[in-house]
Amino acid sequence: MQEINEKVVLITGGSKGIGYGIAEALKREGAKVAITSRSQSSADKAIGSLNKISGGAALGIEADVRDLESQKNAVKKVLDKWGKLDVLVANAGLGHFASIEELTKDQWNETIDTNLTGVFYSIKASLKALKKTEGYFITISSLAGTNFFAGGSAYNASKFGLTGFTQAVMLDLRQYGIKTTTIMPGSVATEFSSGSDAEWKIQIEDIGQMTVDLLKLPPRTLPSKIEVRPTMPPKR
Ligand SMILES: NC(=O)c1ccc[n+]([C@@H]2O[C@H](COP(=O)([O-])OP(=O)(O)OC[C@H]3O[C@@H](n4cnc5c(N)ncnc54)[C@H](OP(=O)(O)O)[C@@H]3O)[C@@H](O)[C@H]2O)c1
Repeated sequence: MQEINEKVVLITGGSKGIGYGIAEALKREGAKVAITSRSQSSADKAIGSLNKISGGAALGIEADVRDLESQKNAVKKVLDKWGKLDVLVANAGLGHFASIEELTKDQWNETIDTNLTGVFYSIKASLKALKKTEGYFITISSLAGTNFFAGGSAYNASKFGLTGFTQAVMLDLRQYGIKTTTIMPGSVATEFSSGSDAEWKIQIEDIGQMTVDLLKLPPRTLPSKIEVRPTMPPKR
């Protein structure tokens, strides 16, 4: 998995934030990168920015991770264009933060459907293709997938679930030579995280670099779970 410039990558939720940062880093290394968004116009806008970077090719696809058929269609578009899939980055996610008294049924369902079931659909839609390439499956969980906090019931449930899901899937998939890693970031400077311009936060290019480094590791070595924190958060 060391030659990134030969790789075809599909990133769910790459229109902005962490997914976009990973797309930029991999394209710069020469990979062919497809990103998804719930809207074609947002995907196209991101592709416009990605195409300013020299390196590999980029493709924007409208696909909602909450819909298995939509995910299958995204994988089909990648296979139709580039003939294979080497890396799936299941990144798409959102957060609703409210006490259990305030949290609504719709917020609960949207969080679980996107952050957990959406990852299940993404790997189900990609598995056949990843088996052919002995590929790589990366999920973006969170430190909220191991540390709980008040107001985090839906988000914590989705990310604790995702951490466990990814580790179990890692054991299933390594028998096919497919690597699986879950990256668990603390605060990353994106629209998702309040104070997105804070310099002390992890930057999207840092997660991009981490993804490149993972793909460059020797085939025999698999970091299955990575916790990543800002080095110097403000003192409380
Ligand atoms: N930022 C942080 O501090 C932080 C920390 C730890 C973990 N994370 C995790 O990192 C991932 C990315 O977060 P981010 O901070 O980059 O957030 P962001 O800037 O809000 O970006 C979220 C991305 O997910 C996409 N998305 C949302 N729902 C989707 C759906 N149903 N189908 C397809 N795409 C969907 C969005 O695309 P459209 O809106 O264009 O559809 C967008 O590209 C999430 O899983 C989040 O939980 C974030």
